[in-house]
Order: sequence, then C-alpha cells, then structure tokens
Amino acid sequence: MGKKKLTRFDLQKMKTEGRKAVWITAYDYWTANFAEQAEMDMILVGDSLGMCIYGYSGTVPVTMDQCIYHCEGVRRGAPDTFIIGDMPFLSYQVSVPDAVLNAGRFHKEAGVDAIKLEGGKRVCDQIQAIADGGMLVMGHIGLTPQSSGQLGGFKAQGRTAETAKELIDDAKAIQDSGAFALLVEAVPPEVCRIIRDDLTIPVYSIGAGVLADGQLMICSDVLGIFQAFTPKFVKKYENLGDKTVKAFTDYAEDVRNSRFPADEHTYKMVEGELPKLKDLIGKK
Ligand code: KIV
Repeated sequence: MGKKKLTRFDLQKMKTEGRKAVWITAYDYWTANFAEQAEMDMILVGDSLGMCIYGYSGTVPVTMDQCIYHCEGVRRGAPDTFIIGDMPFLSYQVSVPDAVLNAGRFHKEAGVDAIKLEGGKRVCDQIQAIADGGMLVMGHIGLTPQSSGQLGGFKAQGRTAETAKELIDDAKAIQDSGAFALLVEAVPPEVCRIIRDDLTIPVYSIGAGVLADGQLMICSDVLGIFQAFTPKFVKKYENLGDKTVKAFTDYAEDVRNSRFPADEHTYKMVEGELPKLKDLIGKK
C-alpha cells in the first residue's frame, strides 16, 4: 500500500525504456486489493464481468450501471493503482455525445483513470471527442468481444496479410485520434510487433504474443475460477475453482457430521453463569 499511482507518462516511459507493463482485470474490492498488493501496473474493470461475474454468454448484455458499480468497488480496493473502465456495448457506438457522457460517468462516479473502448476507424470520432473532453482513452482491436457476431465468434484476428493490414491501419488511426494506449487481442505476435513498432503509444497484448509493451490477463483465468471455456492464450496460475469446491465440500461434510463448529469456534459463558441461567428458567 502507499505506492505511487502510475500516470500515462510513466506508462509511456516504460515503453521507451523497454520495461513491460503488467495488468489484470478485477471486478470487485478484494480482487482489486490483491492486485494492488501484487503491484500490478494497471487494473481493467472489463466488461468481461458479464461472463465472469454475471454468467452471461458474452459481454453484449452488460450495462453502464453494472460497469460503474464494479468500478466503484475496484477503486476502493486499489486506491493507488491506475484503473481503466471498460465502455460496455452501446455506451459509445450510437453517438459521439453518448460516448463522451458515458466516459465521463466512469470518471465522475467511479474515479477511474482512463476508459477503454473496442473498434478501429469506426470509433475514431468517439476516441477523439473523449480525448478532447480531457479523458484518457485506450483503444482495443483484434478480437473485440462486443462485435464477436460480426467476427464469426471469439476467434483470432489478423491471420491473413489483408486482415493484418486492416488492423495496422486501425491502430494508426486510433493513435492519431488521441488514444494514449492500445490493446491488441488474439492476434499473431508478428502482427502485434509491427503495430508496437509503428506506434509511439504503448501497445499491450492479450493473446497477441510476447512482443508487446505489456500484457493483460483476465483475473478469473489466472486464478482458474472461470470454467466455461479456456482461450488458447490463457495461462492458469492457480486452480481456485477446484480448491473452492473442495473447501465448500469439506465445510458441508463437517457440518453434516457435527465436526463444525468445534470448541475453538464457540463463545464461552461467563464463569458461574450457566447454573444461574438454569435456575432462572427452571431447568436442571
Ligand atoms: O472485458 C475485458 O476484460 C476485455 C479484455 C478481454 C481485453 O476487454
């Protein structure tokens, strides 16, 4: 605790000096607090909360109110970490004024340091307007889950020369619109490397290989909590899902067999008070 929160200039310097930034998603107070204790450079309150917290099959149903609510808890858990709020589906696609107002809500109501939105050239007007409003915007290209219908599912992107070129053009347009950083998801490392080398702003990867300015992972994947599916790019550092089931099962067995609560988990009456109570209620 008490570390200095990074700024965009620190993140930019890290890129220049070839130091990798590491960040993770968090959706609640305690995960954010553990992330801060682990000295993450940034935390993303991703709209992946739709799947990881609410059990939706994708991110499309996620609302602004849900995102703000989770950002508030994360802010309290990680007061000294750079926090990015993720703009949910239809919070920025419909109009530029909507985008600015919703980006502003993340700042005013949840105290985030930046927002992230998905898409290339087609959201550059929104990026520019949010940046002109004095806010930090991160772009997100490659596999963009909010438009997974158009992409034909949760699939790797930029695997052909033509589609890779589109991503490279999108990345440049995003930088030119005033984004302070870019996230590239599920793209071959060679393509991510070209984008990183072309852009002056930091370029981060989730599933886009090691040749980026830093890496993002979903907390539920790192901890082995999310069990619905595991993308190729995920490395599970723990298996808390299985460990949690075991802890709950052990607890249930202890209760059913009267092993819990044991003596050490119970309060004692003040010495000599039990006989008095029995007298009072007429019991032996
Ligand atoms: O919502 C999220 O966590 C994200 C990542 C998948 C990049 O946007």
